[in-house]
Amino acid sequence: MDLKSSIIKEKLPQHIAVIMDGNGRWAKQHGKPRVFGHRNGVQAVREVTEAAAELGVPYLTLYAFSTENWNRPKMEVSALMRLLVETLHKEVKTLNKNNIRLLAIGDWAHLPEPTFHALLQGIEATRHNTHMTLTLALNYSARWEIAAAARALANRVATGELLPYQVDEHVFAQALSTHGIPDPELMIRTSGEHRISNFLLWQLAYTELYFTPVLWPDFRKEHLYEAILDYQQRERRFGKTSEQLAHEMQDPENR
Ligand code: FPP
Repeated sequence: MDLKSSIIKEKLPQHIAVIMDGNGRWAKQHGKPRVFGHRNGVQAVREVTEAAAELGVPYLTLYAFSTENWNRPKMEVSALMRLLVETLHKEVKTLNKNNIRLLAIGDWAHLPEPTFHALLQGIEATRHNTHMTLTLALNYSARWEIAAAARALANRVATGELLPYQVDEHVFAQALSTHGIPDPELMIRTSGEHRISNFLLWQLAYTELYFTPVLWPDFRKEHLYEAILDYQQRERRFGKTSEQLAHEMQDPENR
């Protein structure tokens, strides 16, 4: 049986998050500048998006540019920004054809104007789509997001709209840029690095982590299927015992 048909439809992760890593190393292996790796990374973005949509995964989030990425050589940053504009312009039609809604998280309002604009247009043009939500994390860092949420809540407390005791996990999650999006059930990082790198720190609390040595530009649909199959073999316990879970399976009322 091929990988895709081995996937159990009823146990699909509802949200997959991906740290796309290894573009630079891939380019180096091919004796090319780093930007060549990013350009080839776009094909992997297409593959993973198409594969997730075909399977029926409702949410896919891709880490496309971190706050820390500004520290890269100026040339690389501007090439990445141009690539984003170019890709967004090219792909919006395909997103609409496949009923995919585009969203962005992070401080994306402070991206260079053309990138911000292309993103805004893409979000606008796809906002009624319902099959899958593709979220790009752009100018994103989890600590920035958590600090921004704390600031927003502090403001609401200062105005008296919210009382301190009302700030619980639910209210806090609503103040994050991912509000309305369920927490990822599977997080994939490519290129053999085993780090979270300031990505969705709050939302990854119970997420299954999957690391693969494949460099991002080489990532294909089959690699996504492998990650999902690995995820489906795991037992997700959320702090409970295996016996409790087995009991709940027999008697779902008793959760
Ligand atoms: C990490 O590889 C990759 C990035 C920082 C950028 C990812 C961007 C794309 C794949 C292009 C466009 C994206 C979209 C959503 C259209 P790296 O440069 O850190 O690789 P290295 O660790 O080998 O140096």
